[in-house]
Amino acid sequence: MKEVKTVEEVRNVVNPVKKSGKSIGLVPTMGFLHEGHLSLIKRAREENDFVVVSIFVNPTQFGENEDYGSYPKDLERDLKRCEEAGVDLVFHPSPEDMYKNHKTYIKVYDLSEKLCGVTRPIHFRGVATVCAKLFNISKADRAYFGQKDAQQFIILKKMVEDLNFDIELKRCPIIREKSGLALSSRNKYLSDKEKEDALVLQDSLKKAESMLKEKRDPSEIIAEMEKIIHLVDYAKIDYIKIVDLENLEDVEKIDRDVLVALAVQVGPARLIDNIIYEV
Ligand code: PAF
Repeated sequence: MKEVKTVEEVRNVVNPVKKSGKSIGLVPTMGFLHEGHLSLIKRAREENDFVVVSIFVNPTQFGENEDYGSYPKDLERDLKRCEEAGVDLVFHPSPEDMYKNHKTYIKVYDLSEKLCGVTRPIHFRGVATVCAKLFNISKADRAYFGQKDAQQFIILKKMVEDLNFDIELKRCPIIREKSGLALSSRNKYLSDKEKEDALVLQDSLKKAESMLKEKRDPSEIIAEMEKIIHLVDYAKIDYIKIVDLENLEDVEKIDRDVLVALAVQVGPARLIDNIIYEV
């Protein structure tokens, strides 16, 4: 496994790979790798000749009062995990290298303003911009993302379509702890008690799933989900939404594929989770 820090070094490695006709799979990450990331790497390994993992806590996707400064990091452990997972190249640039005199940003309008975009107005602009850079730098044929960040995936798909990127994006299933809690690097902020309380997210989604099968009214489903979340008195709901899987618009009836998504502040961590319901 090679480990590099600069764009030039990545190019020196991937250009010959590309020239020889091999396929490249990219797994973009912000590090502090968990089983969710490892499942993306495994899939990339299965579907490509050459696997690149990027580890970069991207400053442009964090708002002023968010956790950029305290985002968990463990590069040594991440490199070890990548090596064990059969990664070919790890790219871990510095923010200075990635954003030297930077003037260009990509915003996917409309989709970026919904759900998480309401309380995190610059977040998806940062995600789209850094992913566009990583797609170009790695020259990947395919890139792998987790469904936990469902809105991120929908936005990146739209960017790829609108800007004609020659890359295929793959959405991979959410990986959960045994308890059912969706894996996230931010789970590190939670105490054992908060982790247990955070299971109301998964419980509310399970309730939604059973109600969706009965084709119940979305507002009725959301009301039931809220009741479950409120069983934890300190949990603060940012949103619970049932939206069209492509345009993220609220749906009035369950007559198409929908995303049931929620964001809830549980103590120190803002947690997101979702299910996709296909009719
Ligand atoms: O999902 C993430 O970890 C990040 O948003 C990503 C895609 C690596 C971009 O910084």
